[in-house]
Amino acid sequence: MEKQFSRYLITAALPYANGAVHIGHLAGVYVPADIYVRYLRMRGRDVRFICGSDEHGVPITIKAKQQNMTPQQVVDKYHAVIKESFSRFGISFDIYSRTSSKIHHKTASEFFKKLYEDGKFIERESEQYYDEEHKQFLADRYITGTCPKCGNDNAYGDQCEKCGSTLSPNELINPKSALSGNPPILKKTSHWYLPLDQYEPWLKEWILENHKEWKTNVYGQCKSWLDGGLQPRAVSRDLDWGVPVPVEGANGKVLYVWFDAPIGYISNTIELMPESWEKWWKSEDTKLVHFIGKDNIVFHCIVFPSMLKAYGEYVLPENVPANEFLNLEGNKISTSRNWAVWLHEYLDEMPGKEDVLRYVLCANAPETKDNDFTWKDFQTRNNSELVAIFGNFVNRALVLTHKYFNGVIPERGELLQVDKEVLAEIPRIKSAIEDALENYKFREALKEAMNLARAGNKYLTDTEPWAIAKTDMQRVATIMNISLQICSNLAVLFEPFLPFTSAKLGEMLNFASLNTTPGWDIAGSSEILHQGHKINSASLLFEKIEDSVVESQIANLEATRAMNEAGSQQSPEVQKVSPLKEECTYDQFSAMDIRTATVLEAERVPKTDKLLKLKIDTGLDVRTIVSGIAEYYTPEQMIGKQICILANLAPRTIKGIESRGMILMAKEESGKMRIVTPEERLSNGSSIN
Ligand code: MF3
Ligand code: ZN
Repeated sequence: MEKQFSRYLITAALPYANGAVHIGHLAGVYVPADIYVRYLRMRGRDVRFICGSDEHGVPITIKAKQQNMTPQQVVDKYHAVIKESFSRFGISFDIYSRTSSKIHHKTASEFFKKLYEDGKFIERESEQYYDEEHKQFLADRYITGTCPKCGNDNAYGDQCEKCGSTLSPNELINPKSALSGNPPILKKTSHWYLPLDQYEPWLKEWILENHKEWKTNVYGQCKSWLDGGLQPRAVSRDLDWGVPVPVEGANGKVLYVWFDAPIGYISNTIELMPESWEKWWKSEDTKLVHFIGKDNIVFHCIVFPSMLKAYGEYVLPENVPANEFLNLEGNKISTSRNWAVWLHEYLDEMPGKEDVLRYVLCANAPETKDNDFTWKDFQTRNNSELVAIFGNFVNRALVLTHKYFNGVIPERGELLQVDKEVLAEIPRIKSAIEDALENYKFREALKEAMNLARAGNKYLTDTEPWAIAKTDMQRVATIMNISLQICSNLAVLFEPFLPFTSAKLGEMLNFASLNTTPGWDIAGSSEILHQGHKINSASLLFEKIEDSVVESQIANLEATRAMNEAGSQQSPEVQKVSPLKEECTYDQFSAMDIRTATVLEAERVPKTDKLLKLKIDTGLDVRTIVSGIAEYYTPEQMIGKQICILANLAPRTIKGIESRGMILMAKEESGKMRIVTPEERLSNGSSIN
């Protein structure tokens, strides 16, 4: 018999607060988790959806050093960006908190303390690299040196980014501290280890015997770890950022980030429900499910469960439906190479299209293998699925009901075979969606939901109510009634996937005037809207996405790719200044007519990130110049500024605007730009030579 659960505790991996969230994170973790949670809520289950920022670890301290900030300032900045973008995207966490909070430090610290006092750790001494000048042990990332495999001089202690090898610090040739540049010394230090080897037999039984139903990618990774044999894992680090190790004499030591972060699921639950959290974490009838990406499998299936088991009392995850990775236009998503579609940027650039991204990321989710996101596919799925099928069906159904019945649901007459067939699809599809969702098959569930829209669309095309409106209004009434029952089902069944669209559709169908808003239980019925119910006016659910929109996204990526390639061909020394160009003659120079001018008007060029359209006074004339400076100057900042222009440059048409001349800019190799201007304001048209 299947196990019955009274409550559902759903977690999504805590994102590192050293960068923003991108589509890879969304497709792998947050979109499926949100679909699952919304579905459970609609079914009336008792659910809590827990997440927050993962704010400790070495990468955050490195980012802080690079940006001349404190680690706390770094995490404050990204925590705010991440939290806001999730909320705008409709990811419906019950709590999104953070691991630098007091309650988390307290919870993680007490968790460690209990294991420590119960004798669950072993203490071991080892030799680690140490920077004598800075009086610090060095995390692997803080040690650089020559890669033993490829000879790259800038390899890190954990990895060579040139050849991709995984390294350990003592393999580096001529290691250097990234803090002082001096060669580090080896110094003894002691750490606490969780003896995972002791948990191996138990893990084997729990996962390999009792959780054969886990996804094959997850089960397979666990099996290969377990078959390879587990080793004790250090749970502390020599670092000054994190949760201090609560043991006397452990100064300068913090909990390893992968020890404290999963405890964040617990501390965030405590923050959400200070009185009743224990019931959620410590009752056998709680179903705990972790949504994560594949790089987190070992921590969620092996390490964290062993920590929970060592502590006792806690429930273990019932399932860990990890996804594979999403690539972008054929390449691995990379934060450092800026090869990503960032959620906050998407939301700014594509307002009102939250559900389009949710749809594409779910339809193409990397559930069983890595998958590719392309802007072309994004456009196609929008235009030929959302617009042409779902949107088209709903629009036709609503518009025709307004046209023939003034927006009032007409009575159904006798049913023909075609009616019975489409009506039978409704409950069938509803239960197919349920089966798929209960088994974490989100793509399949979405496909089924779309099948209902498809069936509705086909039904209207086959029955052609517009063609019989003159002769058989009785029949048209039946068709419109059925079509609107399908629309109502779509509004309910799509809610987990496309919540913004469902809300809009529910508003058009005037769900608010029904006694109760139709919930999951009523889906499947063909009597959601009763005869006489009045619907509201129709508006489009989705809009066509034009070529220019995706082309500009692709152009952005092309520019990133070109910059990455240019960057990787040069050695670090010459990257700071661009190389000298070929010699030119005096005549070539004096052929250029460079003058002062003043900006009169400035505005952004629509649908671009980088371009401003400027109207300028050159002293000779007033003309338009399109300039790629919008990332560095707002239109307001430019108005009234004196600038220098190349005035006799051949005109060019940019985004349909004729641009006459070019604004002179000083540009750092990093890309940063500033306008060039005379030291003192001169009259417009003064020549420069
Ligand atoms: N921050 C980790 C990552 O982005 C995930 C942490 S999940 C948790 O890969 F379990 F540790 F919270
Ligand atoms: Zn290498």
